[in-house]
Amino acid sequence: MRVLGIETSCDETGIAIYDDQLGIMAHQLYSQVALHADYGGVVPELASRDHIRKTIPLIEAALAEAGCSRDDIDGVAYTAGPGLMGALLVGATIGRSLAFAWNKPAVAVHHMEGHLLAPMLEERVPAFPFVALLVSGGHTLLVRVDGIGRYQILGESVDDAAGEAFDKTAKLMGLDYPGGPRLARLAELGQPDRFKFPRPMTDRPGLDFSFSGLKTATATTIAAEGNDDQTRADIAHAFQQAVVDTLAIKCKRALQQTGLNRLVVAGGVSANVSLRQQLETLMTGLKGEVFYPRNEYCTDNGAMIAFAGLQRLKAGETEPLAVRARPRWPL
Ligand code: KG4
Ligand code: ZN
Repeated sequence: MRVLGIETSCDETGIAIYDDQLGIMAHQLYSQVALHADYGGVVPELASRDHIRKTIPLIEAALAEAGCSRDDIDGVAYTAGPGLMGALLVGATIGRSLAFAWNKPAVAVHHMEGHLLAPMLEERVPAFPFVALLVSGGHTLLVRVDGIGRYQILGESVDDAAGEAFDKTAKLMGLDYPGGPRLARLAELGQPDRFKFPRPMTDRPGLDFSFSGLKTATATTIAAEGNDDQTRADIAHAFQQAVVDTLAIKCKRALQQTGLNRLVVAGGVSANVSLRQQLETLMTGLKGEVFYPRNEYCTDNGAMIAFAGLQRLKAGETEPLAVRARPRWPL
């Protein structure tokens, strides 16, 4: 089976073709970062308009890259939520319409299920069951995964998502959009022990997260200590360490609670080097294993949507003719 995947939920147009025998046959990605940079964040209307410009040319490029025609495609998968309504509608409308025109089934994919299954695009595939830590710009979730579609939410953020906390803190520190990866690079230059920020909600039982207070810790420290280059790097380091420690503490708790020893980490923040190092150490200590997607499949992409869509199509799921998008959609 061969599936065309379309991702347009936020500021990346991602198109891919995945074949269950051959793997990824095409992977096209257009990032709107430059478009939104002047505004310091994603402008939804500009995002929708740019997806309209890019989606069909990228689908044509993906078909050319895979060396196949529409006749070789067995189904069309598109992100139907959660995300920005206008942006989602572009991918959903184009995906649903193409499937209709090509007389192929369509399937609506949950963006976070895409992230969750992205590590399965790698050679070393995690076996079910496992615990997944999903850390993106919109979500922070700990999930027990027993199979495709068999998800139990163990914990989630009660306020900002981990990526959102990175982005907002970066903005506070005067870093350009997109702030998360820039803050992570700055943190590498910081001294480890100059500042210590709280590890929110780790002093009580439970698997939920709260990251919004770390912005305040950052703002207060900037006000007290100044904003020279070394101080900024030290603050970035303290912030990143607080997020990473908090995520690691909750992962450990989730593994102990479920009795599982496989951890999957996905979503944009899973590209963070410090987080990866700490989780490697944690899993070595627990004699378990940790799985990630490669960097290009950590952030938004079409490959994860094609893969998740193929699993859903194989399970017999298809989307009716109506175009549906769900900006809010629980996993
Ligand atoms: O999964 P993703 O591409 O989009 C959403 O579904 O939200 O995640 C984007 C988020 C952004 O908040 C971005 O700042 C964060 O992932 N991010 C990082 C890193 N790379 C991306 N955060 C920390 N360290 C990184 N290296
Ligand atoms: Zn995402």
